[in-house]
Amino acid sequence: MRIGLLTGGGDCPGLNAVIRAVVRKGIGEYGDQMLGLRGGWRGAIEDTSEQLTIDSTRGILTRGGTILGTSRTNPFKHDGGPRLIRETLARHELDGLVAIGGEDTLGAANRLHAEGVNVIGVPKTIDNDLGATDVTFGFDTALQIATEAIDRLHSTAESHDRVLVAEVMGRTAGWIALHAGIAGGAHAILIPEVPFDIDEVCGLICHRREHGQRYSIVVTAEGALPKEGTMATAAGELDEFGHPRLGGIGQRLEQEIEQRTGYETRATVFGHIQRGGTPTAFDRVLATRFGLAAIDAAHAGKWGTMTALRSAEIELVELADAVAEVRLVPVAEYERYRVLFG
Ligand code: F6P
Repeated sequence: MRIGLLTGGGDCPGLNAVIRAVVRKGIGEYGDQMLGLRGGWRGAIEDTSEQLTIDSTRGILTRGGTILGTSRTNPFKHDGGPRLIRETLARHELDGLVAIGGEDTLGAANRLHAEGVNVIGVPKTIDNDLGATDVTFGFDTALQIATEAIDRLHSTAESHDRVLVAEVMGRTAGWIALHAGIAGGAHAILIPEVPFDIDEVCGLICHRREHGQRYSIVVTAEGALPKEGTMATAAGELDEFGHPRLGGIGQRLEQEIEQRTGYETRATVFGHIQRGGTPTAFDRVLATRFGLAAIDAAHAGKWGTMTALRSAEIELVELADAVAEVRLVPVAEYERYRVLFG
């Protein structure tokens, strides 16, 4: 077979491990030809591609990012996008595509499949917000990085008697904030799924001080929102998939907490550090398992499906099910941890 590969959306650790696994098994076991499309759907539209071989994909397992480059290009926002993609496939005589991406890249893959493009999806994102899979690769690495950073905040917060606010990524899902906050022993965790009450947050901080604790760590998801009318926030510009550019809640909390409690407060934005660098062992293995399953799926003609981890097993699920809705933190799960706050 002749298979095209692309990585779309925000990069995340483990993308190269998928590419390597697809190429190794595709060429080594099936005798396939592999073509890498550069920069996500943009590469498929503009036909910027390179041949991938076992040699060209050596040594990439541990590398963060993606050797194919990525973009947030939405083919349905580009004039003739789906047609140009079909033409690229025809020009290179590709039997189908393996698209590695999150909600947006795979949402486009699902629509393209409905229009007759052969595609298999592989779920990636540090946000862990894709449906139909227990977890996406990239999340574990981001969680590890964020947890280590929170660990470091404790000593400096304690030394200065400060409140430190850590803003983490995750878009509309609070998975990174919740898990890093729990693992890092945060005193308050704010997630988009549960609008926060700033009075309550300040109450937790003051309660600690009254009980002899001289510092606090607040972990906030970038998409966390105050209960309506309780605190002002700003909106960011939109990308091609209609998502606002998030960020800024940490700084708002810094001002608000300091003003309301009188305790010195600083905000730290972990930002893209959470997405960079080498994947954890868990992510390397998961990405490799997804890659091996994706090329098998292509050979089995299971177009329109996505590889998924379900109860420790790799399965194929319908792409449409995976992108039907964003997988958010269940409110009950968040509430279970409230007892640890303060
Ligand atoms: O979707 C992954 C993600 O890292 C989000 O957590 C974050 O909101 C967004 O991408 C940042 O995007 P960009 O790299 O385009 O600023």
